[in-house]
Amino acid sequence: MDACPIGLFDSGVGGLSILRELQHCAPNERYIYFADTLWFPYGGRPAPEIRKRSFAITRRMLESDVKLIVVACNTASAAALADLREAFPVPFVGMVPGLKPAVATSPSRNVAILATPGTLGGELYHRTVQEFGRDARIREVPGHGLAEFVERGELDTAALHERLRQLLSPAVNEGADTIVLGCTHYSFLVPALTGEFPGVRLVDTSEAVARRTFQVLDEHDARAPADATGALSLIVSGDSQAFRNHLQVLGFDPATEVPA
Ligand code: DGL
Repeated sequence: MDACPIGLFDSGVGGLSILRELQHCAPNERYIYFADTLWFPYGGRPAPEIRKRSFAITRRMLESDVKLIVVACNTASAAALADLREAFPVPFVGMVPGLKPAVATSPSRNVAILATPGTLGGELYHRTVQEFGRDARIREVPGHGLAEFVERGELDTAALHERLRQLLSPAVNEGADTIVLGCTHYSFLVPALTGEFPGVRLVDTSEAVARRTFQVLDEHDARAPADATGALSLIVSGDSQAFRNHLQVLGFDPATEVPA
């Protein structure tokens, strides 16, 4: 089992922000990244549709003998995580917007949660608000169109900056000192967000998700040997050449791609 790959999936490039952390901590692991670009974006789709995709992707990953699956997408975690855990024997690591660390560290306890409508409407997020959102001012900001900018590789255009201002200025002008990046695509917007809202803290949970992944692997005694050679396999449901071009824009080396 320790030589088996770790699977990750997202609607597109977003989950690469998690893959980057995982590879940084454990370059000796094998990874399979499933980009469901044919169904991108997940953000506004009904939960049953995303659940269906998550099940199909999981089945495909299990054919490749994955030892653990990271649902590297907040929207898919909201729609499907509980059902996936119930239906499949493999361990899953999922995601929820980092409200807990945000509220714990926000000096004014005034935070904006930037996420897709699917994530903000999900039960997982609502439970998190009930548990950790007490005594804090929380504003939910649906990131309409933002994942699309990232998916196009538009990380620093005038149109992107305009959209960021439209979406977030109201919350920041009313005193939000912390923005939670509640969608894995948004990790790639950190430079643009920092430029647009200097002094506002950004909470990104990719590092925590990577830590949790290795904790779970340790619990199953399933880490790859330290001297193993790592690898990355890509599975793309849509146009794989376009996806490889995105990889380059985001700083990934497509030369590491091997056939899935
Ligand atoms: N990256 C996904 C997330 O974390 C969703 C992006 C989308 O497909 O709308 O929520």
